[in-house]
Amino acid sequence: MAIRPVLKMGDPRLLQSAAPVTAFGTPELQALLTDMQDTMAALQGAGLAAPQIGESWRVVIFGLERSLRYPEALPVPRTVLINPVLEPLDDEMVEGWEGCLSVPGLRGLVPRYARLRYRGFDELGQVIDRTVDGFHSRVVQHEVDHLDGILYPQRIRDLRYFGYNEALFPDQDLQDD
Ligand code: NI
Repeated sequence: MAIRPVLKMGDPRLLQSAAPVTAFGTPELQALLTDMQDTMAALQGAGLAAPQIGESWRVVIFGLERSLRYPEALPVPRTVLINPVLEPLDDEMVEGWEGCLSVPGLRGLVPRYARLRYRGFDELGQVIDRTVDGFHSRVVQHEVDHLDGILYPQRIRDLRYFGYNEALFPDQDLQDD
């Protein structure tokens, strides 16, 4: 278990499509998840995808209790999601501010599906099947994008709404992620 370096935007490894996990409940998978959890906790992130630590597997973790960074967000349960499949429930998109540990210090206004069903597996291969909205829907879409080599700046519709935390939100003491 270790806190791993997080790759930053510009690293070509963040642009790869990650491979599906084929074996569950293995020591290798558990070691990967432990490193991801340690890294996310150390950086106080709301989510992390395996490619962000240079591991090109379809594995994401996320979860949020309360956050200074996302003060309006409702809590999201701590989740390990493997080989995820997303299914938007309708066409409604909602714009919201996002940051990313691979794009430190910046924020952008990103459209995401308001409501979606997602399916996948936990680390033991048990099925996860949830219908979500709000910040939960947003964080899943952000993390799963990482598995397809997409970083949130590619989703911004109007680049006037992309900038540095301290310039966009001068009254908030946001951390550098
Ligand atoms: Ni990210």
